[in-house]
Amino acid sequence: MLRRLIAAAFLAAALTTLPATGASAADAPLRDLADARGIYLGTAVTGGRLTGGYADVAGAQFGSVTPGNEMKWGSVEPTRGTFDWTGADRVVAFAEAHGQRVRGHTLVWHSQLPSWVTDGTWTADRLRTLLTDHVTAEAGRYKGRIDHWDVVNEPLADDGTLRRSVFGATLGESYIADAFRAARAADPAARLYVNDYSTDAVGAKSDGMYALVKRLLAQGVPVDGVGFQAHLVLGQVPASLETNLRRFADLGVDVAITELDIRMTLPATDAKLARQKADYASVVRSCLAVTRCAGVTVWGFTDSDSWIPDFFPGQGAATPYDENLVPKPAYAGIAGTLAPVTPPAPGVCSVTYAVTSQWTGGFTAQVTVRNTGTAPLNGWTVRWTQPAGQRVTQAWNTALTQTGADVTASHLAYNATVPPGGSTAFGFNGVRSGGNPPPTALTCTPGG
Ligand code: XIL
Repeated sequence: MLRRLIAAAFLAAALTTLPATGASAADAPLRDLADARGIYLGTAVTGGRLTGGYADVAGAQFGSVTPGNEMKWGSVEPTRGTFDWTGADRVVAFAEAHGQRVRGHTLVWHSQLPSWVTDGTWTADRLRTLLTDHVTAEAGRYKGRIDHWDVVNEPLADDGTLRRSVFGATLGESYIADAFRAARAADPAARLYVNDYSTDAVGAKSDGMYALVKRLLAQGVPVDGVGFQAHLVLGQVPASLETNLRRFADLGVDVAITELDIRMTLPATDAKLARQKADYASVVRSCLAVTRCAGVTVWGFTDSDSWIPDFFPGQGAATPYDENLVPKPAYAGIAGTLAPVTPPAPGVCSVTYAVTSQWTGGFTAQVTVRNTGTAPLNGWTVRWTQPAGQRVTQAWNTALTQTGADVTASHLAYNATVPPGGSTAFGFNGVRSGGNPPPTALTCTPGG
């Protein structure tokens, strides 16, 4: 919540970075648009490609980067005891040079493990130590430099029960708690996430995740967030995405879209790309709608750097930029959704005051509020000063207070809105002890 308020304060700052001529807010980099709305917009990157145009787009457009492969166990410790941090270091250095956050991905996963882990024969105790040592080594190396860690990736089977991975099968669910505790100890500043796919909709698998997170929190396990990979299919953004994010947030954890891509059967057509634009917009909208949604990460920003064609034969074009780093309609879908919300025009009003009858010691007046603007008037407040000690005794069609000579009269619910060119009136009875000169300092202010 506080983050969103702070973000609003930075809105103006973000918009001063707009190009000068003919530019609308939607032309600002995605990272600035997202910042101004209180979320981050991130991308997975391939460390080895961070030069030239690829690096330019990655650095300029995204506020967060995730190493696509470079932090996986198989990458950092291909041989037992021999660490190779080259790829991971490169991505972290790039992020720091470009003022970006890093989503660390991932400390514990059943896939892309080094063969010495998968091929070894481990007792439960040995495997547990191996796992927590790995978490301690990697999270410790990047201590203080990682915004979010995907501590455990894909712990669940399709039906929402514990995946029978080498860790799940040997150690049961307890390995998850151990990994989180080791990560917290190694890097207390990082926000610690559990991350999975096909948990985007409300359903059996996300119910399993929900129950798991609830159990972990009840045990005091330091889980700060839940990541939803969102590897989606064109036209199939789950209708329950926002509801699902919100129910996790209501558990007291952050949520994030961590690996968004939206694949289609190739070739891409204009119609499919238009559909994809709407789909991207809808995912970003869901995150914006949930206060605890920290941000959205796309799993590769260019189609030339997407895992989809390799893993889903015949499918592709899943990211917001084409192979030549030209933004696709999906890019505009994201930018348009992140564009600043323009506050409604405040409206313009004018006011007239007329005494409609008067008698010894008293009078009745009618005050008319007119909308002289071109937008609807959403509420109004009329103020004036009674110059000769007149006092209001009873008013109608307004909420009126008088302090000394100063009177303030505001709309009620039913007459707050006045259309352009329209008017509304209220009245009052007053007492007087002498003459009945008209009010001074009579003003109408929109709103109030
Ligand atoms: C993918 C990478 O993008 C590919 O380059 C690699 O060959 C396989 O893994 N879920 C995850 C990611 O959590 O780590 C996967 O990344 C995609 C699915």
